[in-house]
Amino acid sequence: MDIFTREKERILQTYRRLNVEIVRGEGVYLIDRKGKRYLDAFGGLAVNLLGHRHPELIRAICHQLECYVHLSNVFIQEAQLSLADRLSALSGLNRVFYCNSGAEAVEGALKLVRKWGRGLGRRKVVSFDGGFHGRTMGALSLMSQVRYRDGYEPLLAECFQVPFNDVEAFCRVIDRQTAAVFLECIQGERGVIPIQEDLVNTLKEYRRQYGFLLVVDEVQTGLGRTGTFIAARNWDLDPDIVLLAKGLGGGLPLGAILTREQIAGVFGIGGHGSTMGGNPVACRAGCALLDVLERDDLYGRARVIGNTVMARIRQLQGQYPDWIKDVRGIGCIVGVEFLFGAEQIACRCLEKGLLVNVTHGNVIRFLPPLTFGDEHVARTCDIVEEVIHELAEKESNYSVGKVNGV
Ligand SMILES: Cc1ncc(COP(=O)(O)O)c(C=O)c1O
Repeated sequence: MDIFTREKERILQTYRRLNVEIVRGEGVYLIDRKGKRYLDAFGGLAVNLLGHRHPELIRAICHQLECYVHLSNVFIQEAQLSLADRLSALSGLNRVFYCNSGAEAVEGALKLVRKWGRGLGRRKVVSFDGGFHGRTMGALSLMSQVRYRDGYEPLLAECFQVPFNDVEAFCRVIDRQTAAVFLECIQGERGVIPIQEDLVNTLKEYRRQYGFLLVVDEVQTGLGRTGTFIAARNWDLDPDIVLLAKGLGGGLPLGAILTREQIAGVFGIGGHGSTMGGNPVACRAGCALLDVLERDDLYGRARVIGNTVMARIRQLQGQYPDWIKDVRGIGCIVGVEFLFGAEQIACRCLEKGLLVNVTHGNVIRFLPPLTFGDEHVARTCDIVEEVIHELAEKESNYSVGKVNGV
């Protein structure tokens, strides 16, 4: 029985999987069983910030494996502290809670803001339509998309979503009962939609006026992807709580809630926990990741990669205005919105050895590692260009055929 059939028979069918069996990663490439190489602009959905099998990540992981793989969180662990020191210096937030995933970070932050708000009469949690925060019941309570919520309601009470970038709607919902606003500065899953300046300004102003906590979900955009440690810096936002996961463990499961001492204090002993949270192997990988990001100035590199990809695809948009509606993003998160479903574009790219992701049906999302070289950027754009030229040619032959009655 082949691997695809076995998967269908053994694994819950919650993902539409690609028809490719990867056996090895090598830097910015993935290699399938037949030896075909794929340039990886899919990036493990924003996990593989340094590509695959980066030697420094491997070294850090092996070093910790030689010491111990797991201790209970009742033990003090140097690996957790080393990473916490680094995260604290980078974020300006001096307390860290470790967990294993993005949704778990969101869930923990929800508990934290609820408890913080309880004594102050603040129960309301506000978030934005189109935001994606994970699959747990708490995370779903922050999301309005029917396709994620359907069948799981009732969700948490007192959670309100407003249309993204709609300042008036935002102002209408905020009041003195608001405990927190959860924000994804660039809505990745919705198709790479950045926050607009007037919402940023209103958010800052209303925060001063109403005193709610600002929680930024940087699970996808954090750790240098947008050219800054967290994307919120691009808009000079100074959050009370930052949520990290995806790339934090260098490919191993690790999430973190970063906050200030005054807020963190509301949890207290036993107030929250996670058996596997802050696994020391993942924390060592996290330290190595931060070392490489800084040493190789991958923050700057992320911007160069994004700007080059966007400039090239915008040229293509000039040639195909009836195909490409918009090109947007910051650093290594770029969305190309098509005027039709983008699945066929991604399939053709895959055939040609380029991995990209489709989100929101009509958006190709590029989430390349920050280690993409100029040649990888050029190859990515060449393949997308080839695919569009070929599809356009096929379409024009088809239309000519129709006119000629073929
Ligand atoms: C912005 C954001 N928040 C939270 C999550 C949930 O993360 P996880 O899948 O690790 O639970 C995701 C996952 O894609 C995400 O993009």
